[in-house]
Amino acid sequence: MRPHHTDQVLISESDIQGRLAGLVHEIVADHDSKHYVLIGILRGSFMFLADLVRMLYEHDIHPQIDFMTLSSYESGVNTLGTVTIRKDVSIDIEGADVLIIDDILDTGRTLKFAQQHLRDKGAASIKSCMLLDKPSRRQVEVDAEYTGFTIEDIFVVGYGLDYDSYYRELPYIAAVNFTDGEEG
Ligand code: IMP
Ligand code: MG
Repeated sequence: MRPHHTDQVLISESDIQGRLAGLVHEIVADHDSKHYVLIGILRGSFMFLADLVRMLYEHDIHPQIDFMTLSSYESGVNTLGTVTIRKDVSIDIEGADVLIIDDILDTGRTLKFAQQHLRDKGAASIKSCMLLDKPSRRQVEVDAEYTGFTIEDIFVVGYGLDYDSYYRELPYIAAVNFTDGEEG
């Protein structure tokens, strides 16, 4: 059952794909690594990362790819103050140039935590690539080198982002209509 409607498309599929090409250009222009590792933060990054790596391949960039599962959200929309590791990276990243991939920079806690954790594991350099950024929500000081779109403080789903694990499959970004059916 889908408890809410998501008919308000904020960023269309073609806008996402167009912006991704731009992001890949930025990443390729900066790229200078013999040991390049992309780390996707699960679960929200899965679609973004899958599209990015296929575009990087077209530019002859062949990183190692791994994932870590971090959690700062329980189901629903409330952020907990702490981040926990549910699954750590599996490969050795000592000396690697790491690019963190995630869906959205919100309070910043998840990215801050991931950066520190990967630094502790010995990464030589760490950059971050976020599909979305909600700067008005920031609670900790953290920045990403690459950002797809900056958005207002509204809860969005699609293209990997979920509400209670729903809507990740949408090829576009949509706003969730929490008040649907409650007229006014
Ligand atoms: P942060 O640690 O507060 O920056 O939160 C990052 C995580 O919160 C993201 O990876 C998402 O899983 C989740 N999140 C934040 N904003 C949204 C949203 O608008 N829709 C869906 N998930 C969100
Ligand atoms: Mg996430």
